[in-house]
Amino acid sequence: MAKKTVRDMAVEGKRVLVRVDFNVPLDMKTGVITDDSRIRAALPTIRYLVEHKAKVILCSHLGRPDGKVVEKLQMQPVAQRLSQLMNLPVATVPDCIGDAAEKAVNALKDGDILLLENIRFHAEEKANAPAFAQALAKLADIYVDDAFGTAHRAHASTVGVTRYLPAVAGFLMEKELEALGSILTNPEHPFAALLGGAKVSDKISLIQNILEKVDLILIGGGMAATFLKAQGYEVGASLVEADKQTLAYELAETAKRNRASLLLPTDVVVASNITAEATGEVVPIANIPPSKYIVDIGPETIELFSQQIRGCRTVFWNGPMGVYEIPQFAQGTKAMVELLAGLKATTIVGGGSTAEIVEEMNLSYRMTHVSTGGGASLTFLEGKTLPGVAVLLDKK
Ligand code: 3PG
Repeated sequence: MAKKTVRDMAVEGKRVLVRVDFNVPLDMKTGVITDDSRIRAALPTIRYLVEHKAKVILCSHLGRPDGKVVEKLQMQPVAQRLSQLMNLPVATVPDCIGDAAEKAVNALKDGDILLLENIRFHAEEKANAPAFAQALAKLADIYVDDAFGTAHRAHASTVGVTRYLPAVAGFLMEKELEALGSILTNPEHPFAALLGGAKVSDKISLIQNILEKVDLILIGGGMAATFLKAQGYEVGASLVEADKQTLAYELAETAKRNRASLLLPTDVVVASNITAEATGEVVPIANIPPSKYIVDIGPETIELFSQQIRGCRTVFWNGPMGVYEIPQFAQGTKAMVELLAGLKATTIVGGGSTAEIVEEMNLSYRMTHVSTGGGASLTFLEGKTLPGVAVLLDKK
């Protein structure tokens, strides 16, 4: 990797501020963490620092508290979970800067771990305010960014702080950049991108950036409606992004010119409404009833996509194939998880809801890489620079 990592620094006895992405999904009623993957993903860096006798100061955001203290978004449950996973005490403090934080840092011995309070309780974090970044930097001697999931945000704790401290990447950041970078630079062919999710507009830049690198693009999920409409099919009551239809048509044409196949569903599951009680009906794409919504890919499409993907050496997947939150419309998505889990190929799963589904099905360990970044992995694969990465020290 072109950036320096924690391995390049002498950390013994040093105060090391580690930006982690502990923005974990919570059950808002009970406060229970429903998926701790992001905490587990940061363990290698934390362990390394503990073993190398650094004073480990962790900071993260949790949710979007908008610059105010929100009790339900305090870091305490995260500290508890981290402590269980590390089998070590994890100290907490009611703020992330100021006297309380400084006192907590001064009390640290080599190898101790402190988790600062939610950094987004201060509006200055998102505003990347210099005084706030400086107050944060004052707590440490070295800065390590292991928050790949937040690297697309130019905030005080991801960008501002690096003006005041030597800044390097953690092991998760390194792993993410290498895994996602490999599909942009030297993917093994045939290379397929399986894309889903609600909206085409979220994926256009990604499709444009990978179109010349892939052999195959398979489109499912809500966004398939806009592509189908662009090919002249009626898609019932499904959301069509009218302003993206021409682009969807052009993308299909460019794919053809590049000799890449762009595959759309041949059958879909439709329903009269998108509720937990709704029942689905499988129809060919030429017969989608005017009042119904597309809620999943159909069995013929599952078979078609599976056949195509089975022949690939690299598969990147981002976005569910249907309304997976409703079990009767989750068949297509689940079939794709199982398919990828059984492949002898490089399988890279984008973060966000796609990663959560794979985790829920306990199949993350069967994938080559499951990204911890939703927006960050998309931004990276769109070919854009991640501000949180750009500011890290280059390897000479
Ligand atoms: C994420 O969950 O994608 C990251 O933690 C970033 O969170 P944000 O979208 O609230 O900035």
